[in-house]
Formats: sequence, structure tokens, C-alpha cells
Amino acid sequence: MIHFGGDYNPEQWPEKVWTADVELMRRAGVNLVTVGVFAWARLQPAPDEFDFGWLDRVLGLLGDGGIGVCLATPTASPPPWFTRRHPDAMPVTADGVRLTHGSRDTYCVNAPAYRTACARITGELAARYARHDAVRLWHVHNEYGTTCYCDHCAAAFRSWLADRYGDLAGLNDAWSTGFWSQRYGDWAEVLPPRATQYLGNPAHLLDYRRFVSDAMLAHYLSQRSILRASDAPVTTNFVLGGWVPVDHARWASEVDLVAIDDYPSSVGGHLAERAFAADRARGWARAAGHDDGRWLLMEHAPGAVRDAASGVVRPLDPGQARAAALTYLDRGAVGVMYFQWRQSRGGAEQWHPAIVPHQGPDTPIFAEISALGAEVARREPVTVTAAAALIHDEQTMWAWQAPGLDYEAICRRWHVAIGGIVDVVPPSVPLDGYRLVVAPVLYLLPAAGHRALRDYVRGGGTLVLTFASGLVDDCCRATPGALDDLIGARVVRHVPLLPGETVPIDGLDAVGRGWIDDLEPAGATVLLRAADGRPVLLEHRYGAGVVRYLATDLDDPRPGLPTDSGRPGR
Ligand code: GAL
Repeated sequence: MIHFGGDYNPEQWPEKVWTADVELMRRAGVNLVTVGVFAWARLQPAPDEFDFGWLDRVLGLLGDGGIGVCLATPTASPPPWFTRRHPDAMPVTADGVRLTHGSRDTYCVNAPAYRTACARITGELAARYARHDAVRLWHVHNEYGTTCYCDHCAAAFRSWLADRYGDLAGLNDAWSTGFWSQRYGDWAEVLPPRATQYLGNPAHLLDYRRFVSDAMLAHYLSQRSILRASDAPVTTNFVLGGWVPVDHARWASEVDLVAIDDYPSSVGGHLAERAFAADRARGWARAAGHDDGRWLLMEHAPGAVRDAASGVVRPLDPGQARAAALTYLDRGAVGVMYFQWRQSRGGAEQWHPAIVPHQGPDTPIFAEISALGAEVARREPVTVTAAAALIHDEQTMWAWQAPGLDYEAICRRWHVAIGGIVDVVPPSVPLDGYRLVVAPVLYLLPAAGHRALRDYVRGGGTLVLTFASGLVDDCCRATPGALDDLIGARVVRHVPLLPGETVPIDGLDAVGRGWIDDLEPAGATVLLRAADGRPVLLEHRYGAGVVRYLATDLDDPRPGLPTDSGRPGR
């Protein structure tokens, strides 16, 4: 069975609407709804007062209607009474501004009061609903992502660093604090990377992102352990994007089912974006050891998108929602869920599309989503195998700082260039099953990553690397020449290009942009050169395999791919 449905926030509506909702859900083929994501104030109206009667009735109605529940813990949106009592649990920005109540996601995961309050409401929910028939899945929190720089975070950061580096000497070495007089002589001197005068220390910045990810993971794990009172699986919804301080590769093994939210960023380019998101979700599932690569699309926009560039929200063209859903399902999704079921009358997202819009069910959106509900009811989840993998590394994404060269965009272009079904995997995934592995701009490469790439090629794999790869280690320290033996060339210097500056390629109707490495081949064959004679594409035999190295960025990187291997379809 495919899960089909979305976020249901009935606390916005009088009870008579709930009965109509369940009836409409049945008409639309909905079989799973996420309930309670933002319901904390309704569930716990005051510090020592709980109200579960309404949720009992909602779950009862849904259960009687044959609709399963993905029950959320409401901790992404603490209620106003909490904020008023515990101002120290509100997040502080890097500039030192303490945020106040008024939106959502306003919390500090390291604040003791917040952690206690989260454990309490989660415990109450678990005690009441752990064995409820309608509950099929637990949804912890929502889209972890708030970064805070407060004093609670400073203390927790120090202890995280002490675990990682042992002592201050280890920290000073890892952070290269010999430069700019940054040597620490006392743990109390170590702070989150708050607003400062000029450039920050890259190792400090990167470690803070890792720390924030781990602190949030601890928050998730504390709720998961409480919810283990139930047999239903536990997950949280991953949100994609460079700003997200979550190391998904590390988190994936802690969720029982990888679940992602994927919203179109523009009306055009729709399906390629969906395919990339789906292939990433499957990659995380594989990283977690789920060989079937199955995952859940927890949220998607049912009928309209906000164009990131213009800010305009407009309906999808007829058929686009269906095409997106089928793209997810063909790439291993076990369900397609939308935000949200019924469009809010008021509140921050009152114009966000919903399956039941303000105008009611007699509308194109409801008709299209209902038809889709009927269609997916005839399908079963598929297990997808891919011959090719694209390495997408969150640590590199966080550490990479070249203006004008967008890591995410480069990976997306390679994803399109490889074509077909491609596992988009973190570097920790075993590579030996793939005929082709493409690792664009793998800027940060720790020793384990170096070993994995070499073992893969030695064993007969075909690897494509690009410019700006293997430039730094785990601590953002330069590692010159680290890939030279593998690519069969010496990278003599890196030349970031200016905006608009291009490198014409000999014999190709294409130009390099953004960056070019100057290479001295030492064993590799030159397959392409720039018009000025500089090598831009190398091929090198290494062990039983082969490595290609593309020294510049192409709008369409297909010329970098070997023609005889790696195409999907093993
Ligand atoms: C998601 C979020 C939902 C809703 C949606 C709107 O990121 O989880 O609660 O806000 O965005 O697109």
C-alpha cells in the first residue's frame, strides 16, 4: 500500500468540520494524515494543564474512517506560556538578538527548560496514544533547523569539543588557531561563532554546524526513546537545503523510515528537482542500511509553488502534481503526503495551497489530488536499483565557500547529466555495487573518504572527480596534492574565475566557468583541452578501475562522463 495524505491541523477548525474532513479524505483516497505538529498550546494550554479530549475525538474519527495517523510531537512550536516563563529557552542569533514568540521554530535545543518541557509533552502523548489503533507512525518535532548561539549552546559546544578533541591542545591544532592569535588557553574562552569583526575561522564554523546537528539529534533521540513505548515506527521530516544544520547522513540511521519534505522552488524545472530530492532520500535510506532504499515523502505542495526568485505563489499547471507524485513513487517513495489537508483561514500560512482550498472541494486542486489518490491506491512501493551514484556531501556543502559556485547547483547538473535513476549518496555509503560514481567538488575529504574512493577504483570502479576536490581535511586544513596519485596528475594551482570569465574548450561547443585547475599530467591521458592548450579532462587507470578528472565547471557536464560505463540499467 502507498501512503497518501498530508498534514492535518484540525485544531484550527470547529468539530463539525472534522466529520466532513474525514468524509472528504475518504473521497480523496487519503489513508494517512499527520496530526498535531503545531498543537502544543492546544494540548497543554497551561504549564500543569493538559487537554487530550479533542485529540481523542480526532483520532477516533480518523480511525473509524479507516485513516491512519502519523502522530507528531508538537515541540517545534512551544506555546506562549512557555516562552514567557523561560525566556532563556528562546534562540539567540549570531548577532546576539534573543528572538521572541510570534512565529514557530523558536526554541533552543540546549536550554534545559525546553528539553524538560519537550520530554514532558512527549511522555504524555506516548502514555496516552502508544497503543492507539489509528497510530501508524510517530513524527518527532518538525523540520529540525533552528540554530542558536546562546550561553546554553556555548556550554554544550565546549563539552562537544572536549569529547571530540580531548583537550585544548587538540582543539588548537584542529582549528589552526596559530593564525590571527586565536589560541585558546581556557575552555571558557571558546564561544559559538557569534558575530565578529571579519572572517571567521572555517574549522570553528564547520564544527559549530556539526555540533548543532548533534545537539538536535540528541533532542530527537530523547523523544524517540520515550516513543519506544509504542510499536509504531518513529521518524522526523528531513528538510533539504544548504541552510539546514542537520547532517542527514548521520541522522538517517536513527529514523525508522527516512522521511523528507520537498517543496518546488520554482514553477519551471519541476521534475528534475523532484527526482534529485527523491534520489537523495533513497541515498540516505541506503546510508542507513535500508537496502530497499524506501523512504516517505512527508510533505510537498499540493497545488501551488512559491517561485524562489520572484516570491510569486501560483498554481501548478494541471498534471504537474501527478507527475511529481509519480516521480517520487518511481524512485522508491512509500508514500506521498502534502502540506496541508485544509487551507488555513487565518494565520501565517493562510494562502499556502492545500488539498481542500478555501473554495472547498469543488475545485481543480481537490479534483486532481483525489484522482491521484485513486491512482496511487492501485500501486505498491517499488525497490529501485541504480547503476550510478552521485556523492553529495553535507560536510563539503557546509565547508565550501567559493562565491559564485553553488555546490548544490553543481550536483544537480551532474544528476541531470548522468540521467535515469541515480543514487545520491553521502560518502559513507559503500560504493562497490555501482558501475559509475560521480563526486563533484568533493572539497572536504577526510582520510576515510580518500580510502573509500581509492578502494572503489582499485576494485574496478569508474570514478569521476572534478576541480576543487580533496582540498581540505576534516578540520578544513589544506591537503595539497592529496588526490594527485588517484587522478594521475599534479594539480599545480587553482584558478577561480571571475563572474562572466569563461574558458573555451577545444573541440566542444562549451565553455568552462567558475574555476579551472592547472594540471600537469603524470600518468593520466588528456581527453580534452582548453582552447589555450590547458588540460581540462583527464583519464587515469588506477588499479582495475579508471578515474576521470574534469578541471572546470561546465553548464552541461556530460562530456566529463565516460560513454561506455555507468549508464543506469544494471
Ligand atoms: C514546511 C513545514 C510546514 C509548512 C510548509 C509550507 O517546511 O514543515 O509546516 O510550513 O513548509 O510550505
